[in-house]
Amino acid sequence: MNKTAHEIYDEAYKIWNPDRVNTFRSFGVELVMGEREGSYFKDLEGHHTFINMHSNGGVYNLGHRNPEIREALVKGAELVDAGNHYFPSPYKNELNERLLAASPDNMKYVFVLNGGGEAVDAAIKFARRTTKKSRVVSLSCAFHGSTGISMQASNPTIAESFNMKPDPDLYTHIEYNNLEQLESVLKKKDTAAVIIESIPATAGFPMPIENYHKNVEELTHKYGALYIADEIQTGLMRSGDMWCCCKYGATPDMIVTGKGLSGGYYPMSAVIMNEEAASWMKDDGFAHTSSFNGTELGCIVASKAMEILTREETVANVDMLTNFFAQELPKIQRKYADFFTEIRQCGVIMGLKTAHPFGGGALMLSLIKHGVWSMMANFDRSVLQFKPNLLMKKETAEEVISKLDQSMGDAIEMVTEMAAKNG
Ligand SMILES: Cc1ncc(COP(=O)(O)O)c(C=O)c1O
Repeated sequence: MNKTAHEIYDEAYKIWNPDRVNTFRSFGVELVMGEREGSYFKDLEGHHTFINMHSNGGVYNLGHRNPEIREALVKGAELVDAGNHYFPSPYKNELNERLLAASPDNMKYVFVLNGGGEAVDAAIKFARRTTKKSRVVSLSCAFHGSTGISMQASNPTIAESFNMKPDPDLYTHIEYNNLEQLESVLKKKDTAAVIIESIPATAGFPMPIENYHKNVEELTHKYGALYIADEIQTGLMRSGDMWCCCKYGATPDMIVTGKGLSGGYYPMSAVIMNEEAASWMKDDGFAHTSSFNGTELGCIVASKAMEILTREETVANVDMLTNFFAQELPKIQRKYADFFTEIRQCGVIMGLKTAHPFGGGALMLSLIKHGVWSMMANFDRSVLQFKPNLLMKKETAEEVISKLDQSMGDAIEMVTEMAAKNG
């Protein structure tokens, strides 16, 4: 495979996704990932190195090609294959035990799947079956995935673009941090599930008001619904605790996780459930099946990921990174205060808010030139998502801060030009 990145983009335009190819080209970027290790990846030709500050939303929570995960995968492949979703398995049990040990005491069962959206769909179905109600209440600024139910529960513009406008009798979208709106929907007493992204990623990680999650839990239960915490971006230690909603004092009925559970290698997601949410598995355990749920090789990989996540060294590194960014980001912000207006941070979950509607995009493009890959928040492009992996070394974090400093000037120039053009 000796094709250049340009040739690969040309082919991808024809047979993969013309609009994505055009979008990257319009940004002046023809990036194809080449070698990768830890916090870094190179372009195809190996000419440019990037620090990964997007981590694919947390897929690379433990960095690229984590050697311990790789070893577990390779050794696992010598032992097992996908297994059979019908049978119990020691590998499934081990993963479930690890997930339950890392969750609040009310959690009793785990259902393991592959994609985040798929797991969100499953959790909502479990809530509908348990409560015998149908309405789903979710945040209008959320992204829960691209499968049927998860897409309808997400920011409604996405489903609308696929001619799947959410049925108002089944879905209600409310504002983040607005408990009055939540209660007024719940009062109809037809809600099965309230699903909340613990800190909405695609909206740029706006921080919760005090006691938000605890109040969501109380209101949801007061009106007989189940609270599902979407921890696909915020879980697995990214907040500094295993689950972000628990850090804020809430105890949901279901926790949905994904992305980093893969160890960056094997797509895995899970719904962690209390007794009530898992009741369908007592009535009819065959009611919800899929070929690859609880796949054995994936469970081996995910168990290793969970083991690494719960180590003292990992927790200490997350604390180090949290404190480092909490100390360094305000210094940059003070320097560019007119443009860089707000730092949003909870552990290594970070959003850098700017004063310009495309400021997050401008920073993303400028950082690419300086060798950092991070992404603007798609539902609020004034914000840059800043997402290091949990094991990033201090030297790399220092590099990130210095490159952020160097990128500010270009980003400000870009938005100033845009503002001048738009009058
Ligand atoms: C918060 C959140 N929930 C759900 C999903 C969907 O996960 P997946 O892409 O694995 O289907 C995503 C993906 O970005 C996400 O960020």
